[in-house]
Amino acid sequence: MKRTDGREHGESDLMESTATISWPLIKQLHVALALLTACSFCLRGYWMLARSPRLDAPWVRRLPHVVDALLLATGIAMAIGLSISPHAHSWLAIKLLAIVAYVVTGSIALKRGRTYRQRAAALAVSLLLLAYIFAVALHHDAGLGLA
Ligand code: HEM
Repeated sequence: MKRTDGREHGESDLMESTATISWPLIKQLHVALALLTACSFCLRGYWMLARSPRLDAPWVRRLPHVVDALLLATGIAMAIGLSISPHAHSWLAIKLLAIVAYVVTGSIALKRGRTYRQRAAALAVSLLLLAYIFAVALHHDAGLGLA
């Protein structure tokens, strides 16, 4: 999204924001957590498809919650700190909606789905949603430049 001074939101803000908070560092942490959550979801999806008992291990159940909480915290911190609101930046609003849909389909895939087919279908949808979330975050555009 173009700003009134003609610069793009994001990079320039990240470099010029308050001296005390290192936004580039927080963004790097956010991206690292996003990659970690994606890898961990793929692995758990694979274990679900393979009917592996590893999926029920206590640490496999708990660790993703810690990673997701940190991902959410760093995302909210950046949104507030860089004044990127979902009202003014539709890509963030769509990204958040896609995250909610991903959480629901992800939970059906790994836990709540009643049959194997249901869980496998939910896994496919959640992987597509995850790819879309990454694409929206990188393009800052819900239409990914196609619309
Ligand atoms: C599955 C969850 C999430 C994924 C996969 C994800 C992914 C990403 C990625 C890859 C970037 C870096 C984009 C770039 O390099 O320009 C990013 C940036 C960002 N994310 Fe997330 N994110 C997630 C959750 C959230 C949440 C919950 C929020 C906040 C409410 C959020 C807010 C932001 C903001 C404000 C930026 C910085 C935009 C900028 O100025 O460049 N993210 N996200």
